[in-house]
Amino acid sequence: MFSCTPASDDTQQGGKTENSGNEGPASLRNEPIKPIEPVVVADPALVELGKKLYFDPRLSMSGFISCNSCHNLSMGGSDNLKTSIGHRWTRGPVNAPTVLNSSMNIAQFWDGRAKDLKEQAGGPMANPDEMAFSHELAIQLLQSIPGYVEEFSTVFGTDQIDIDQLTQAIAAFEETLVTPNSRFDQWLKGDDTAITAEELEGYELFKSSGCIACHYGSALGGNSYQKMGVVEPYKTDSQVEGRISVTGNEADRFKFKVPILRNVELTYPYFHDGEAATLKEAVEIMGRIQLGRVFSEDENAKIVAFMKTLTGDQPRIELPLLPPSSDDTPRPAPFDE
Ligand code: HEC
Ligand code: HEC
Repeated sequence: MFSCTPASDDTQQGGKTENSGNEGPASLRNEPIKPIEPVVVADPALVELGKKLYFDPRLSMSGFISCNSCHNLSMGGSDNLKTSIGHRWTRGPVNAPTVLNSSMNIAQFWDGRAKDLKEQAGGPMANPDEMAFSHELAIQLLQSIPGYVEEFSTVFGTDQIDIDQLTQAIAAFEETLVTPNSRFDQWLKGDDTAITAEELEGYELFKSSGCIACHYGSALGGNSYQKMGVVEPYKTDSQVEGRISVTGNEADRFKFKVPILRNVELTYPYFHDGEAATLKEAVEIMGRIQLGRVFSEDENAKIVAFMKTLTGDQPRIELPLLPPSSDDTPRPAPFDE
């Protein structure tokens, strides 16, 4: 069937607190999922620059689409659409995964074709169906904006902006988009009252029925590629084939990166084709086609209740003020003429 054992280092630290009877700080429960820790920002100036770029629609041909258009940080880092809308209202082929906690993915995209966030960040700008720009145009644009030239120079110590700096800054900002302190994490850290009995039963079901075999680690996913439809084929109109498009290996047909389940309550609709509108539906399909298991209404509701405890503190973003264009800045071209 499938091979996805939890990484061994995930299970070593921590211990149960229930029977200790001691006062003192509660300690980490011995569970296959570990809490997400708050991020420590190493280079605030780099992150601040990356935040500006993330929100800057001038990095698109239309002057209208920014990273935040499709990974809206007011909505769990997603667009809540089945598939994204790109340049000239183009319909995207897949659902936009969240950027929240995306640094925890083994690789980026549903098929893992970008090895990390830095490599990923160059993609959308140059994609004709997303931002429809090019790396050359992006650099030309930034170079024409004095405020950016100055900021890049402060951060990188050179007046010559390049694509490497641009993607490095965006990736550094994305690395700060983690969501600690969910109720489930509070429970993991020993607070028995952080989740309800129903939610805890949902977690037990999540483990005992086998969801945890693929959705493991701090992010409950992001660690492996797995077949969509292990026990029963997944029916979809989507032409997307998954990991095979990267490896060319027939065994990888219809394998996708297991999505992160952190903040899953916020990132509807679900699956690479966005066809599951609700968590209830997603759980029903997962149980049936991945595990050959039909959950009762009650079991389904418990698993959904558990998954809603995974919503953590959302990054608190102060909207960046973007430096104005200059007379030399290439003008946006939202329409054809
Ligand atoms: C037009 C909508 C759109 C725009 C604009 C866009 N993205 Fe995406 N993003 C997507 C879609 C759709 C995917 C999934 C594509 C795939 O897997 O083939 C994606 C995937 C990603 C991923 C991978 C997440 C994962 O779990 O694999 C990251 C990270 C990301 N985008 C960041 C960015 C950044 C940074 C920008 C700005 C430079 C950006 N995106 C602009 C729609 C968009
Ligand atoms: C064999 C590995 C495997 C098992 C077991 C598994 N999943 Fe998944 N899960 C995946 C993969 C792969 C996807 C993405 C599939 C796609 O989009 O085509 C996914 C997607 C999801 C999604 C949608 C997330 C999103 O952002 O789109 C949810 C929710 C989910 N799984 C919950 C569960 C639950 C609950 C169980 C147990 C009943 C479970 N999964 C069992 C591999 C697995």
